Amino acid sequence: MRDHDPQHLGGIARRLAHILTTRGIDPTATPDGGPEPVPALLAAESRIPARYRGATADHPAVAAWVRTIAEAGRPGPGGAPGIAQGRSLLIAGTTGTGKTHQAYGAIRSLLGAGVRLRWKATTAADLYADLRPRPGHDGERELRDLARCPLLVIDDLGAAKYSEWTEEITMRLINHRYNEMLPTLVTTNLGMADLRAHTGDRVASRLSEMADKVILDGPDRRRAHRRHPVAAV
Ligand SMILES: Nc1ncnc2c1ncn2[C@@H]1O[C@H](COP(=O)(O)OP(=O)(O)O)[C@@H](O)[C@H]1O
Ligand SMILES: [Mg+2]
Repeated sequence: MRDHDPQHLGGIARRLAHILTTRGIDPTATPDGGPEPVPALLAAESRIPARYRGATADHPAVAAWVRTIAEAGRPGPGGAPGIAQGRSLLIAGTTGTGKTHQAYGAIRSLLGAGVRLRWKATTAADLYADLRPRPGHDGERELRDLARCPLLVIDDLGAAKYSEWTEEITMRLINHRYNEMLPTLVTTNLGMADLRAHTGDRVASRLSEMADKVILDGPDRRRAHRRHPVAAV
């Protein structure tokens, strides 16, 4: 899971310094005598998986959702718009159609548009693994943080093994975000009927009201990518 917990900040700062250095920028420099705020997009790069670091939300419906969210933002610290309430987005499609690409592309577009954004992204499988009760770990607190995060990406909902416990966790998370109208970007490779069967009626019903739905179709882009270099040999 990627988040803003203090224990991660040292690592993020180190990765940021590395990114800046590789771009020929001195990470310790403070132009004009004051600390230079690192642009949000650059800061986010260290939290976006390498494969999706250049992703663009080029699907028209995803781009439209990004615009709506950006416009609905109310002024945050420094006058830049922050995310308040807004519609959620459900991106459905079979494997390799570009769901994760569009999700990270949407985050990048929002940051690039100057929206001040606290966001977290996790796959459903990682979410359940992180929240599993275990000694020395406050899963309830983590669930609360996820539930309240201004923008949450839940990738591959429905792909993890189902249990009553995963249904309950998903329900509590989605129900809070539904009640508070917090933008949530969900991807799934299930159709609506299968998603309903997997997550339960209560989650599916809320998602269908709170989220705009985008269906990605087309071939598995991973296979298309793989064929290309073989054909070139
Ligand atoms: N719009 C796009 N433009 C360029 N590459 C893309 C695009 N959408 C997906 N890809 C690439 O295709 C592959 C599969 O995309 P991904 O988002 O991981 O699929 P999914 O999450 O639907 O399984 C990845 O290598 C990704 O970088
Ligand atoms: Mg994916």
